[in-house]
Amino acid sequence: MSINYIWGQDLSYPEIKENLQQGNSLVIVKGFPLDDDELQAFVSQLGISLNEKRNNNGKAVFDVKIARRNHFFTSIANSNLVFPLHTDCADFDTIPNTIGLLCVEPAEEDQGTNYFMLLNSLLKHLTEDEKQKLLNKKWKFRNRERSILEIENGKYKICYDRITMESFSKLTPTETEELSHLDQLFKSLSFSIKLEKGDLILFRNDLMLHGRSSINVNSNRLIKRIRFTIS
Ligand SMILES: [Fe+2]
Repeated sequence: MSINYIWGQDLSYPEIKENLQQGNSLVIVKGFPLDDDELQAFVSQLGISLNEKRNNNGKAVFDVKIARRNHFFTSIANSNLVFPLHTDCADFDTIPNTIGLLCVEPAEEDQGTNYFMLLNSLLKHLTEDEKQKLLNKKWKFRNRERSILEIENGKYKICYDRITMESFSKLTPTETEELSHLDQLFKSLSFSIKLEKGDLILFRNDLMLHGRSSINVNSNRLIKRIRFTIS
């Protein structure tokens, strides 16, 4: 499920890029420096990163850690909650197709485990009818209407984020049931990875879903996230 490299040894950018273009596996670079600039420089060899205002210095790296202000988490990404399998930025105009997560401080033992589901595994499990349904039905992702499956240049893509889908529109009981069924299916096809300090994991945001288990509210877990698009 993953192609592993070691920082400073046999790192080939064209090869990493090719693996990401295919999107059938995760790419893991072990022993990556725990540094924003190194992460940014590495990703700039592969694609174009997305700068966001909320990121460190408004650049491309965001610290995923528990952060509270007046007893509230400052955002969902800064909470200790479970993230069911999803696509990042599902409500953005242009969705970045790749994500990098650099583990600076892992969570304790059995917590904060990352989960992934490959679109290819899902497609193998769906009947033609089920695929058609997911291609045809549009869902509301905040201001955008999108189908869960899409075909672009003859290739399937996936976009799914139940939290966004449920937050901005009122779903019918049948739709809610449909999503619960999908969540279960996604979970049954998923596999887990526990990141270690210095692991940089790169994965396609449009060819797989990702999620994580919950973490202790006092945990020091720190993951540096960078979103980018490879062509
Ligand atoms: Fe995410």
